[in-house]
Formats: sequence, structure tokens, C-alpha cells
Amino acid sequence: MEAPPAASPYSRKNPFLAELTRHDRLTGRGSSKDTRQFVLSLTGSGLTYTPGDSLGVFGRHSPELVEEVITLLGFNGGAAVNNPKGQPTTLRQALLRDYTINRANRKMMATLAECIPQGEQRNRLMGIVDNSDALSEYINTRDYVDILKEFHEARFESPAAFLAQLSPVVPRLYSIASSLQAHPNEAHLCITVVRYETHGRAKKGLASGFFADHSDMFVKNIPIYVQESRTFRLPPDGSTDIIMCGPGVGLAPFRAFLEQRALDGATGRNWLFFGEQRRETDFLYGNELLEYQRAGKLHRLDLAFSRDQSHKIYVQHRMLEQGKELWSWLQSGAYFYVCGDARHMAKDVHQTLIDIAQKEGGLSPEVAADYVNVTLMKTEKRYLRDVY
Ligand SMILES: Cc1cc2nc3c(=O)[nH]c(=O)nc-3n(C[C@H](O)[C@H](O)[C@H](O)COP(=O)(O)OP(=O)(O)OC[C@H]3O[C@@H](n4cnc5c(N)ncnc54)[C@H](O)[C@@H]3O)c2cc1C
Ligand SMILES: NC(=O)c1ccc[n+]([C@@H]2O[C@H](COP(=O)([O-])OP(=O)(O)OC[C@H]3O[C@@H](n4cnc5c(N)ncnc54)[C@H](OP(=O)(O)O)[C@@H]3O)[C@@H](O)[C@H]2O)c1
Repeated sequence: MEAPPAASPYSRKNPFLAELTRHDRLTGRGSSKDTRQFVLSLTGSGLTYTPGDSLGVFGRHSPELVEEVITLLGFNGGAAVNNPKGQPTTLRQALLRDYTINRANRKMMATLAECIPQGEQRNRLMGIVDNSDALSEYINTRDYVDILKEFHEARFESPAAFLAQLSPVVPRLYSIASSLQAHPNEAHLCITVVRYETHGRAKKGLASGFFADHSDMFVKNIPIYVQESRTFRLPPDGSTDIIMCGPGVGLAPFRAFLEQRALDGATGRNWLFFGEQRRETDFLYGNELLEYQRAGKLHRLDLAFSRDQSHKIYVQHRMLEQGKELWSWLQSGAYFYVCGDARHMAKDVHQTLIDIAQKEGGLSPEVAADYVNVTLMKTEKRYLRDVY
């Protein structure tokens, strides 16, 4: 774990309670996503950050979810328990902020079977617990309300016995989407709110749901810390060109980069590849980006709106279309950054860089792969990734 900036007493172990001072919708009516900018005040924290850093946030469950779990357990929400640090609290508070209840874990399932009397429910649950694949599939789509409703014969001997099986809440990271110099004492986050429905109930992500639904404005109640990045940084020399590839919320750190480069008067050119589903509803920070472009501070902007036509167009397709130019920027020393989805997008973008090195650089497949994997990434350290 990296150390926080030295000036601040706040860290992951001792998070600062920040105030939410603004939030703006970045996606429009009709979008399939709810992506928003959340502005947090760092006033009084001494926290500082550099573009490329992330904010760690401890989310909280909704009071409604907590009350449902307490009712299903048949306990009193005010019952005395300890939190994961061993400090005294109430069952209600522990479920609100200390333990994960919006997603189930395997450990709980095994214990739950022991809390059910002999009979059909117990046998059915044992059938799930004894089959690893069935268990994974079962817990992937359920929270503890789903499970306690289905296995309503389960009785825990005490609130502590239930809590002992839960996973402690862990913080979520969000790329900081602002430059501190451009917005003193503020950190801007660009968050897609996780919402979905399974088993007839609406569910939400712990941290993104907390921001969207239950974080009161102008109340210092959001536990945060700065997670420094060692590597995801602007080039030390402002005259270096940069290419940024950030579809979806992967755009976040690049907004910070653009703000910083504009403030620094960096002379290097800035090229952004951005993609989302539809231009009409999902062009995150669209007006700002177009304004940067108009002002000559964003030299190239390539957009890939995947669902504006019958076939998918992704950022890597735009990279390929611009392969010659992209190759020439790389040959002149440009940095290449990618941020966002690790599972599909970042892999495809990586392969596309290799394809461009082959096609435009005339390299063999092996030499092209070596150029991207070794020269750009390791030797020259100018292919930088922040993917999740
Ligand atoms: C370095 C880094 C930077 C990041 N930056 C950003 C950022 O700038 N913006 C941003 O929005 N996110 C960002 N993330 C992701 C972020 O940290 C969280 O993972 C994300 O917001 C979800 O957290 P949550 O607590 O809201 O949801 P959780 O409570 O963690 O719930 C999410 C889980 O819900 C389940 N789930 C989701 N959808 C469904 C479904 N349809 N059906 C069934 N189950 C489902 C999945 O198991 C999923 O893992 C970043 C992550 C990292 C590591
Ligand atoms: N852990 C979590 O619960 C959680 C919550 C929020 C976000 N995230 C992660 O955050 C990342 C960003 O999410 P996001 O919703 O902002 O954006 P996203 O899902 O990455 O989508 C942004 C754009 O990328 C397109 N895309 C899909 N597959 C692609 C591929 N292989 N290559 C290039 N582009 C591709 C999408 O098109 P189509 O949709 O039309 O295919 C869309 O136009 C993802 O990793 C997402 O999983 C995780």
C-alpha cells in the first residue's frame, strides 16, 4: 500500500470525512447508464493529489437494505456488537458501514446451512453449498435479503454470530477527474452508478450507490483517502505529446490531464480517444472536450459511439483508422495512456497497438509485440495503463 502525501494525517486507515458539494449528471435522459460527476471538498484535510491519482472511498449501504436484513434476522438494530476493528457499535451501524451485505460470500453460505433445522430448506441449501459452481452462480446474483428470504428458517444465535460470517467493507477506488490546481480543495469524480435487478429486487453498488442515493450534500460524511499512483503520470517534459485512450469512465484521469496540461502551458500535443454508447446521451464532459478542442488545447479528438449505428465502433477501431498518424506520434516519443475496462477494452487496445506497429511500422508480429510490451511499456515507460 502506497503512503499518502506527507502533509495530511489522513490515509486509508484514517480516512477524511469529506463533504459532497456538487453533483452533476454526465449522461442524459434515455441513456442506459447513470454516470455522474461528484465534487468533494478537501478543505481542512491537507490532502493533495496529482493527476493520475485515485480517491479511495468507503461506501455505505442504504438504510432500507440494512433494516430489511435486521428484520429478516429477527434481531434488534440497537443490539451491541463489535465492528471489524473490535470497537463497540450497534448492529445497525455495523451493517450500514462496516460489513458487506449487498453481495453474499461463500463463508456465510456454509454457516447458514448450520443455522437451519433438518428438513427441505437445509437439504436444498446443502445441495448448493456442496457444489462449487452452483454456489458461485447462486451468490453472484444475490444479496443477504434474497438469501434470508429464501431460507427463512435460518436462525442465527446472536447478531455477532451473523456478523462473524460477513466480509468487512473494503474501499473502492475512483480516478480523480480534476486537477487540484484548477479546482483548489476539490476532487472531482466521474462515477457510473451500479444498478441492476436480480430476483425481482433492485440492487445497487455499495460505493456508487452511496454517492447516488444516500450521501447528503454539505454534510461531512464521505470517508476518503488519496491513493497515489506511482506510474500513471503525465510526462515530466510538457513538450512531449500524449495519446489518451479512455472510453466510459476511463475518461476520468484524462480530464485531469487536460486541465493540468492547459494550466502548465504544456506545448506537447494532446490526443484523446473516447468512446461510449451514444453521442446524444453519453458524451461525458462533451462540451468541455469540444471547448478544449476549439481552444487548441486538445489537438485530436477521436470518438467511438458504439451504438449510434448497426455495427459496433470502439476506440480501437478509431485507433486503427488513424494508425499512420498514431504510429508517427509514437515514433516521435509520444506517451500512450489507457484507462477503463481491463477485461475487454484494454486487451483489445493493447493488441491494436501491436497491429499498428506491424502495419505502419513494417515490423514482424514478434518485433511489433516486443516493441509494445518491452520498449514502450518497460524500457521507455511511455505506455501507461490504469485499468480495472
Ligand atoms: C484504479 C481504479 C479506478 C477506478 N475508477 C473509476 C472511475 O473513475 N469511475 C467509476 O465509475 N469506477 C471506477 N472504478 C471502479 C470502482 O472502484 C468500483 O468498482 C465501482 O464503482 C463499483 O463499486 P460499487 O461499490 O458501486 O459496487 P459493488 O458493491 O462493488 O458492486 C459491484 C458488483 O455488483 C455486481 N453486479 C454489477 N452489475 C450486476 C448485474 N447486472 N448483475 C449481477 N451482479 C452485478 C458485480 O459482482 C459487481 O462486481 C475504478 C476502479 C479502480 C480499481
Ligand atoms: N466493478 C463494477 O461493478 C464496475 C462498475 C462500474 C464500472 N466498472 C468498470 O469500469 C469500466 C468502465 O465502465 P463504463 O460503464 O464507464 O464503460 P464501458 O463498459 O467500458 O463502456 C464504454 C464504451 O466501451 C465500449 N466497449 C465495450 N467493449 C469494448 C471493447 N472490447 N473495446 C473497446 N470498447 C468497448 C462500450 O460499447 P458497448 O457497451 O456498446 O459494447 C461503450 O461504448 C469497466 O471496466 C466497467 O466494468 C465496473
